[in-house]
Amino acid sequence: MSDKPTIREHWSGAWGFILAAAGSAIGLGNIWKFPYITGENGGGAFVLVYLLCIAVIGAPVMICEFALGRHTQRNPVGAFQALSPKTSVLAHLVGIGVLLAGLFLLLFGSWGWSVLLIALGLLIFRYGWTLVGVMGVTAGFTILSFYSVVAGWTIGYIWKAATNQLNFANVAMAKEHFDHFILHPGWAIGCHFLFMLLCVLIVYKGVRSGIERWSKILMPVLFLIILVLIVRSLTLPGAMAGVRFYLTPDFSKINANSVLIALGHAFFSLSLGMGAMITYGSYISREENLFSATLSVVGLDTLIALMAGLAIFPAVFAQGFGPDAGPGLVFQVLPTVFHQIPFGAFWAFLFFLLLMIAALTSGISLLEVVTAYFVDERGWARHRAAVAFGLAIFLLGSLCAISVADWSRLEGLQAVLLKIFGTTKASFFDTMDNLSSNWFLPLGGLFIALFTGWIWGTKHALDEIRHGSSNFGDVHLFSLLAGLKDDPSHNSRIHVVTLASLWGIFIRFISPVAVLIAFLHTVGWLDLRP
Ligand code: PFF
Repeated sequence: MSDKPTIREHWSGAWGFILAAAGSAIGLGNIWKFPYITGENGGGAFVLVYLLCIAVIGAPVMICEFALGRHTQRNPVGAFQALSPKTSVLAHLVGIGVLLAGLFLLLFGSWGWSVLLIALGLLIFRYGWTLVGVMGVTAGFTILSFYSVVAGWTIGYIWKAATNQLNFANVAMAKEHFDHFILHPGWAIGCHFLFMLLCVLIVYKGVRSGIERWSKILMPVLFLIILVLIVRSLTLPGAMAGVRFYLTPDFSKINANSVLIALGHAFFSLSLGMGAMITYGSYISREENLFSATLSVVGLDTLIALMAGLAIFPAVFAQGFGPDAGPGLVFQVLPTVFHQIPFGAFWAFLFFLLLMIAALTSGISLLEVVTAYFVDERGWARHRAAVAFGLAIFLLGSLCAISVADWSRLEGLQAVLLKIFGTTKASFFDTMDNLSSNWFLPLGGLFIALFTGWIWGTKHALDEIRHGSSNFGDVHLFSLLAGLKDDPSHNSRIHVVTLASLWGIFIRFISPVAVLIAFLHTVGWLDLRP
């Protein structure tokens, strides 16, 4: 709690914090995933839906996370523990619901799910809201295990570009090369190890001289590289077809499904729902303005995602390729595109370097969540926690790396999971991805919003947010938008329509309902497909 006399490290100032948080948000999600889901879901129309999701759900939840972290000065588990009431009716109701669902499933003989739900129900009953924090720390573990495998591929491709090995006459050749590379355990695990090593080295150094220092170096480099790549891409003959494809709104492609894709991606892209921003928030000083910091982080994240599309699609179209390669776009189509333009190896090198930097500043935030928990709650030294959990995540990630395509190398594990749950995902890698992105993050986001809105309470949260934000949240929204925040004649009365009240309504009603619908849809309990 804030009254604990800690000597917690803090960011050196607003800029250091914003770059670190933007570094967490800007990652593979922006450069690898955003462009291709935009391409598949109606281009500019999807971008508009995505912006709406970010404004309505992403930004309000991010403010909650920053406020929870700064107020408690703790990791996600400690933050929930510090603010949870002795008994919470809502937590008990959820606990009973989960318990009953577990007992119900027993009737159908699906004992794996049943045992899991009964155990979970009892845990919710015992630990209440603190479990949301535990889920966040667990998500840090599971996300980084597969994330760093993909990040490892980018290191491999940087090496391949530097040694001029990415000479593909067509996409089929590039695909064969890629498949061979990711299925080669030596390469896959070696590169994954290198990436985890970089994460550990940075987190090991601490908040200021590790995370902040490297974010301040890497984020401007990332921005510069993406600018150079955009210029290169846009100046290729025929590039405009790509711009048109990317940004022309096609509203016929927008349906419930694409809205939910946008919502799910907003969470992943902004690093929300697992306490990364609670942890980073716990290193913010009371002088910083949380509203404007959130605006900067969300703005930078969206800007880089849009820029990534502008770096990729014009080049893809200019060289006569299609935009619909999905996840393979970056590792298969792009190397082929680069090979066809002068100094291709150099452009490929720059691109994969960009991807690696983006992944690294996200990877460190994931490892920091786990590290902060063991430092705060278990009294471990930072060095020890960073190394021990870096190693543990490396080991879990190695399972992802060797089973990225199917279960053939982990048949024993698949048999166990199959016996318990009745079905399995396509691979262990997919299982980790599914568990984190479809379960942990949305549920985490839902509970963070509910907790802030209904348990901690918007009033207490706002008291925290008001520190350092001058009168930002309390002036009439119109005056704020008109730039009249400090004008006495606009500011002399108590207003109802303010940023603060708007945020409160979103966090209590709109965000939880939207996230719940998205969650039920992704796990298949609600079908909104047309
Ligand atoms: N925001 C990162 C991306 O877009 O790639 C992924 C991520 C990082 C998710 C950190 C969650 C997190 F805590």
